[in-house]
Formats: sequence, structure tokens, C-alpha cells
Amino acid sequence: MPSSSSAAAAVRTQRHGVLLVATIANPPVNALSAEIRKGLLRAVEAAEADPEVRALVLVGEGRGFIAGADIREFGKPPLPPSLPEVCNRIEASGKPVVAAIHGPALGGGLEVAMAAHYRVALRDAKLGLPEVNLGLMPGSGGTQRAPRLMGVAPALDLMLTGRHLGAREALEAGLIDRIAEEADAEAAGVAYAQQLLASRAAIRRSGDSPLAADIEGARAVLKKAAADTAKKSRGLFSPLKIIEAVEAGLDLPFAEALRNERQLFLQCIDSPQRAGLVHAFFAEREVAKAPETRSARPRAIGSVGVVGGGTMGAGIAVAVLDAGLPVTMVERDEASLARGRANVEKVYDGLVAKGRLTPEAKAAVLARFAGSTDYAAFADVDLVIEAVFEDIEVKKSVFAELDRVCKPGAVLATNTSYLDIDAIAASIARPQDVIGLHFFSPANIMKLLEIVVPAKVSADVVATAFELAKKLRKVPVRAGVCDGFIGNRILAKYRQAADYLVEDGASPYEIDEAVRAFGYPMGPFQVSDLAGGDIGWATRKRKAATRDPRARYVQIADRICERGWFGQKTGRGWYLYPQGARTGTPDPEVLAIIDAERERAGVKPRKFSAEEIVRRYMAAMINEGANVVREGIALRPLDVDVVFLSGYGFPRYRGGPMKYADTIGLDRVLADLREFAQEDPLFWQPSPLLVELVTQGRNFDSLNHPAD
Ligand code: COA
Ligand code: NAD
Repeated sequence: MPSSSSAAAAVRTQRHGVLLVATIANPPVNALSAEIRKGLLRAVEAAEADPEVRALVLVGEGRGFIAGADIREFGKPPLPPSLPEVCNRIEASGKPVVAAIHGPALGGGLEVAMAAHYRVALRDAKLGLPEVNLGLMPGSGGTQRAPRLMGVAPALDLMLTGRHLGAREALEAGLIDRIAEEADAEAAGVAYAQQLLASRAAIRRSGDSPLAADIEGARAVLKKAAADTAKKSRGLFSPLKIIEAVEAGLDLPFAEALRNERQLFLQCIDSPQRAGLVHAFFAEREVAKAPETRSARPRAIGSVGVVGGGTMGAGIAVAVLDAGLPVTMVERDEASLARGRANVEKVYDGLVAKGRLTPEAKAAVLARFAGSTDYAAFADVDLVIEAVFEDIEVKKSVFAELDRVCKPGAVLATNTSYLDIDAIAASIARPQDVIGLHFFSPANIMKLLEIVVPAKVSADVVATAFELAKKLRKVPVRAGVCDGFIGNRILAKYRQAADYLVEDGASPYEIDEAVRAFGYPMGPFQVSDLAGGDIGWATRKRKAATRDPRARYVQIADRICERGWFGQKTGRGWYLYPQGARTGTPDPEVLAIIDAERERAGVKPRKFSAEEIVRRYMAAMINEGANVVREGIALRPLDVDVVFLSGYGFPRYRGGPMKYADTIGLDRVLADLREFAQEDPLFWQPSPLLVELVTQGRNFDSLNHPAD
């Protein structure tokens, strides 16, 4: 039961001479739970009530000050006291309040600190207002106090980007008053408070000064921020509310501006975008806790081998070098090795050219890179990642070499996109060491890493893969073996839905536009032009022999590839790219090919609205997502969500395809599938899992928390 005694445990108070020190304790990150909020109020009251106390010091226990509101409380009925009430009470205190900050002071945590009269930070402090990343805005005075402390433009930058400031930057920005040399936040806070008392420093309250000295200058900054935000934030709701709140602060009295901010904050809380973004936040943390990470200890990884120096091998090598590990690359001959090394160097040369890396730092990184054409170079490495041609026989021959040269216990990973990893594992004498590490292109940039778990792999190898992902700062998702694993298997289905739409009457340009309007940065045909149409073409040819003869097959993409139109790299694909343009323009010849194919297939084209395009595209994606969960290829629906958020450009504010399905209602998705199945019952066959959930009145999220 919530009680005043648990509030006392959450915020302990202790006298330190004439100071009262309030220690906030809510592991792991001191999120502002109701008990913490109550405890903070009590601390202010206790300091005021005790005639011997002259100032209050706020300090966080453990890893940091306060990481923000308790994200788990959003969407639930609010419990008193509210955070604005707490912050206002801190600011109104008749005795000076000092916030002593170490580690994260984020969101509501920074709002508490800004409500205090003085702020001191240790060097490891991380200060920020990252609410925007969760579809929110500061709602406890942050939009009013940050501009007063830092100025309007820097405060807007902090709130609109959600970025964290280190202690030095925060000091320069005016967000804190000093950096402490003490190693301990409490000692720093106590020393600073004593000094403030000795110098008879006055109580400083934000509301006593206007939001900006130069009102017209501030209006111009806000106008520009609004225009930039409308362009950049693609359908996001909360950035515009942040700007609105600051703007209102120019004209309203402080107390009224705070009330206005709270109203806008509550609108953000109610927005489905907040639900989607909070889902993404927790889902990304949940995926890293695969069962094997609990049941087994990872093997030590001190060095990595990479086979192949093409697009993926080079990108993977860079990702591993960036994590501080040494890399040995093996290629099939000297010329290919030179190309592989050049591919790696190119990335760092780009950084040097942009001034983001010194030539010395580049040399230091490359000193950890070695190349060879002899597999014996892998004799001592702890883990090898194979990234050679997508051909099972080539892969098997590479694994035979690895089996021959690698030390016992080395982890042997393949970056295959589609091939049967069980078959690769079975081809060597140590299948327990073989795993899939499916990176996405460019491998040094894309966050997603599918960890593909074949039948015979041992649990500690799986745990090692998750540990490697952590070192590489990737988002790991556990996947089972099947054609395409989680992401590419589902992609194949919605891409097919898009191809059907084209043959049935929509243009690729209309489809891309509808998909972008849904929130994707690019549509599927733009993505195909970027990745190269030849990749999908090769896959289609490989699968032709095993394709269900009853399945509808649209040949338009093949007609385009047959002309050598593979996209950006060939100057044309679905779009035209004159003179190396990066953005394509619609191609009348492609439309003519499509018309001819419709005629050949005997299809009478019809119009599709953007809404119907998205309904079909999403229904195909969600339905295959359900199949992937049902077959255990993905552990839970949230794993599918994370794959699409971190590897396929799915709009984060919608939380992922499965979360989106829950938002619109699974019954509606099922009704769509049944409607489309009247045209093509084979392709649109509803997943039994979807049918089961709808029958039981449950949603996908109910499968995300099996223990609840
Ligand atoms: N409310 C509730 N739980 C939170 C939280 C918050 N504000 N911030 C972090 N957590 C939880 C995480 O879910 C995780 O829980 P788990 O161990 O059960 O998975 C745990 O705290 C540790 O967080 P994690 O992100 O894994 O640790 P880290 O050391 O890498 O990063 C932070 C710490 C604080 C920098 C990071 O968690 C963060 O950015 N949190 C969100 C801050 C924020 O947005 N605040 C504004 C809220 S409006
Ligand atoms: P690529 O053609 O760019 O590179 C392959 C490299 O492997 C070449 O440099 C080649 O010389 C080398 N190679 C071939 N046989 C070899 C051997 N026996 N020993 C050593 N080196 C050998 O191909 P890529 O796009 O980097 O793809 C590599 C793998 O990664 C494939 O399995 C592919 O399916 C997978 N993948 C590709 C992408 C992508 O977007 N390109 C994404 C994820 C996974």
C-alpha cells in the first residue's frame, strides 16, 4: 500500500549540520514514482518546518540523479501529488534548494533540478529533456524554466532533439551553476550549499524573470523552429506542442504558462503516438533479454574474424572496429582483399573529410585491422562472421575452412539473409558453435541485428551473440531459422502485396507516396531502387522452382530488371535518376511496361485510394507477423515490432506493425484480410493466430507478457 512510510523510504532525509539532505532512492534509475513525488514534497516541508535547517540538498542514490517520470505510469490513472505540484513547491521553498546531480538528470528529473534554486553537477552528469522521444513534452515547468535558464534557442534544441548534455556543455549553457570536483554528489551538494549560505546567496525563482529578455527575437526563433519542425518531424505531434508551450510563455504570467503547459502535456499523453513510442522504448529493452542471456554465460570475445570484404563484410568490420575490437578479414584473393580493405578505409576517410575523425585516430583504428587470403589467420580469433556470396555451396565451403582452422570454442556466424543455417551447421563437425548474425546494410549504421538461432547451437553461443550486440551497440532480436527469418520473410509478403497493387491498378509512385504518408521515410519501390533491384531478382529466380504453382506471380519487376534497370546504381529502376540524382523521378517507360504487363495478365486496372493501399500493405505485414510469432520464429509480437522499427524504417511513433494492429483493432485487420481473400484466398489466408486472438477478444500485446 502506498503510505507515508514508503515515501520516507523513497526519499530519505538526514541532517548535515544546518543542511537537510534528501536522498532519492528508486532503483535502478530513480524514476519519479508517486512515492518519490510524495517524498520530495515532504522533504521541502520538513526543511521549512525545522528552524535549525537553513537549506535543502537534493541528491540521487545509485547510478544517477533522476532519469525522469516513471514511464510505466503513463496511461494509468495519475496518483497525487503531480510532478508540477512538486516542482512548484520546490521552487516556492522559503529556504534555498540545491540539486546535486550525478549521472542522468533527464526529463522530469531535470525539471526537478531546474525548480531548485541552484544546481551543481559531477563530471559524469547527463542532462536532458528527452520527452520528445516518447511522444511527450516537459510537463512540469520544463518548457518555461529551461528557456529562462539557457535562452530560447538552446532550450528548444534540448527539447526538440531530446539530446543529453554533459556537465561542461550544461555549465556553458547556463543549465547548471558549477561543476564539482568531488567524487560524490552528496559531498558536492553539501559543499556548494554551505558556500551559498556563507555568501548569503539569495533564493532564485524562475518565475521571477520573463521567459526572454528579447521578446521579438524569441518570436523569430520560435517561428523558425516551427517551420523546421513541420518539415523534419514527419507527422509527430509533440514537437509542435513544445513550441506552442514556449510561445505561450512569452505572453502569459508564469503560473498561467505552467497551467497551459500541463494542458498541452496531457494532450500528448493521450496521443496514440505516446503509446507507440513508449511501447518502442520498452520493447527495445525487452528484446535484449533473450532466454539464453539468462540461462548461459557468454564466451569471451576479444577478437573477430570476417570472411568477405564486400558491402556487408566491410560494414561489419567497421562496426566491430568501432566497438574497439581487433578484426581480421579473409578474402578469396589479393585483389578482393585490397577492395575489402579499401571498403573499410572509405568509411573512415569519409569521417576524416567531414572533420569528425583525425587522421591519427583513423590510423589508430586501422592498426586493429588485419587482412589475409589464408584462413590460418583465423587460428586465434574468438568469433568469425561470414559474409560471402549468398550461395549455400560457397557458404558450406567457407564453413569447412573455418571448421579446419578455428580454435575449439570459436563462435562461427553467418550473415546469410535467407539460407538454411541448420544446413550450414550440419555440414561441419561443430554445429553447436554455428549461429546466424544477420546485419543490415550499411552494417556499421543500421541498429538491427537478427540473432538467428539454429536447432543445434549451444545456449552460450546465443548468449555470446547478444553480448556482441551490446558491444556493437546494436538492437538484437532473437529469430528462428526459416526463409528470411523475421524481417525479410515478412518483407517478402508486403512487397508481394505492393506488386499485386501495381498490377491491379496503383502506380509504384502512388504506393510509395501512400507509404510515406503513413510515416515511412521511403516507399517500397524507392527502397528497391536504393538497395538494387538485382538482389530481389536473384532471390525470385532462386525461389522460382519451389514457388507454389497456384500462387499469383507478378512479373513487372522482372521486366524492369531484364532491361538492366536495377535502381540508383544503374541510373534507373522504378524511377529515373538522371545524372546521378539521389531522388528519383517517375518514369513513363516504367508505366508503359506496367500497362503491358496488366494487359498480358488480363487485369483490368482500377483506382486505389491511399487509404486502401495502406490497408492492404499493412494487412499483409501484420498477417505474416502473426505467422512468424505463431511458428516461434519471433519470440513475441514485440520482437517483430523491434525488427521493423530498427531495420525497416517503420514509423517509430506507431510502435511497430503489431502494436499498430492492436491500435486499429485486430478484428478490423481480420475483416480486411477476409475481404481481400475473396480475390485471392491463398495469399490473404488469415493467420490462425490472428483468428484465435480475435475469437478470444485478445490483442497481440497480451502475448508480450506471458508471465502477467
Ligand atoms: N521510467 C521507468 N523505467 C525506466 C525509466 C523511466 N523513466 N528509465 C529507465 N527505466 C528502466 C528501463 O526500462 C530498464 O528496466 P529493465 O532493467 O527492467 O529493462 C532500467 O530502467 C535500466 O534502463 P536502461 O535504459 O537499460 O539503462 P541505461 O543505463 O542504458 O540507461 C537511462 C539509463 C536513464 C539513460 C535510460 O534508461 C533512459 O534514457 N531512460 C529514459 C529517460 C527518459 O526518457 N526520461 C524522460 C521520461 S518522460
Ligand atoms: P558482396 O558481393 O558485396 O560481397 C561478397 C564478398 O565475399 C566479395 O568481396 C567476395 O570476394 C567475397 N567472397 C566470395 N567468396 C569468398 C570466399 N570463398 N572466401 C572469402 N571471400 C569470399 O555481397 P554482400 O552484399 O556483402 O553480401 C554478403 C552476404 O551478406 C550475403 O550472404 C548476403 O545475403 C548477406 N546480406 C546482404 C545484405 C545487403 O544488403 N547487401 C544485407 C544483409 C545480409
